[in-house]
Amino acid sequence: MKAIQWLGDSLRILDQTKLPLEIVFRTARTYEDVAAAIKQMEVRGAPLIGAVAAYGYVLGARQYQGELDAFEAYMREVQETLLKTRPTAVNLFWALRRMEDCLRENKSLEALEPIQQRLAQEADKIAEEDVRGNRLIGEYGNEIIPQNAQILTHCNTGSLATVEYGTALGVIRKAYASGKQIHVFAGETRPFLQGARLTAWELQRDQIPVTLIADSMAGFLMQQNRIDLVIVGADRVAANGDVANKIGTYALAVLAQAHGVPFYVAAPTSTIDLKLPSGQEIPIEERSAKEILEVFGVPVAPPDIPVYNPAFDVTPAKYITGIITEKGIVSPPYAVNLLKVMVRS
Ligand code: MRU
Repeated sequence: MKAIQWLGDSLRILDQTKLPLEIVFRTARTYEDVAAAIKQMEVRGAPLIGAVAAYGYVLGARQYQGELDAFEAYMREVQETLLKTRPTAVNLFWALRRMEDCLRENKSLEALEPIQQRLAQEADKIAEEDVRGNRLIGEYGNEIIPQNAQILTHCNTGSLATVEYGTALGVIRKAYASGKQIHVFAGETRPFLQGARLTAWELQRDQIPVTLIADSMAGFLMQQNRIDLVIVGADRVAANGDVANKIGTYALAVLAQAHGVPFYVAAPTSTIDLKLPSGQEIPIEERSAKEILEVFGVPVAPPDIPVYNPAFDVTPAKYITGIITEKGIVSPPYAVNLLKVMVRS
C-alpha cells in the first residue's frame, strides 16, 4: 500500500499511527499540515520523510499570497518549519536542500506560478528517484540473500517507510519475488512498534512468510542458529560508515557479530551524510515519555516513572558487513568506499 499520494494541490497521507487496526487517510493541504504529520509520525521512515517534506515545501509555495520579491524569505520560514520536525533522518535535510536549490535556480522566473510548477516537478523527481532507487537496492540486495534464508529485520523499511517498495524490505520483497523460499523474523521495535504494526502487516499482505518476535528474543534465535542474516534500514550513514537507525539496531549488530551472522544495511545514497565524519555527530531524537508509558493509549507502567526514550542508536561501522545502495553494495573500508559510491553516477 502506498503511504502517500500527491494530488497536485494536497498530499494524501496514510496515517501510520492507526495501523494495523485502522486504515485512515488524511489530507495535508498546507505545509503546516505536512510538518505536523511528520512530527506526529503519521508518516515516518527516512526516505518517506524526505519526499513528504519536499511536497510540504511545494504546498508552502502554493500558499503564498504576497509579492514575488518577498517570496524567498517566506520560503525560508517554510523550510525552517519543515526542518524542525525530526532531527535524525538526513533525507529530510537532503530533500529540503534540493528544494531550496531548485528555488534558487528558478527565482529569476518572472512570476510565482512557473516557480511553483518547477518546485512541484522537483518534488516529483525526488519521489520518483526514491522508487527507482528502491528497486535497484532490491536487485543488488537480492544477491546476498541465500536460498531458504532466515532473515531478521528491525523497524519498518518497506513501502510505508519509502515512496514505494522499500529498502531492507525491498531486498526481502525482491528475494521473495525471485522465487527464494525465505522466512522473515520481524522484531516488534518497541516503543513505537513499527515492526509489529507495520512490517508484520506489510509482509503478511504480500504473503511473505513472517514471524513476529519481541526485540529481546533476537539473541536467543541467533544462538539457536535460526538467523542467517540481519538486514535493516538507516536514517543516516556517516562518512566512516557508522549508521544511525531505529533504537535497538546496535544491539542486533553486536549480537550478529558475536554469532557470526552477517549484518547488512540497505539505504539509498540520499541517506549518506558525508559531512559528518562519524556517527558520534549524528543528532539522536528523543521522543515523548508517553511512547514508553503507554501502548495504544493504554498505560503499561506506573504513570510517574522517569523515562528515557531515544528513538535511534548508532551502529559502529565495524559491525556492518555491507551497505546496500541503489549504486551497488558498499563494503569496508567505508571511509573510502562511501566516497566512491557518492561520486559514481
Ligand atoms: O522513527 P521512524 O519510524 O521514522 O524510524 C524509521 C527507521 O529507523 C527506519 O529503519 C529507517 O528510517 C529506514 S526506512 C527505509
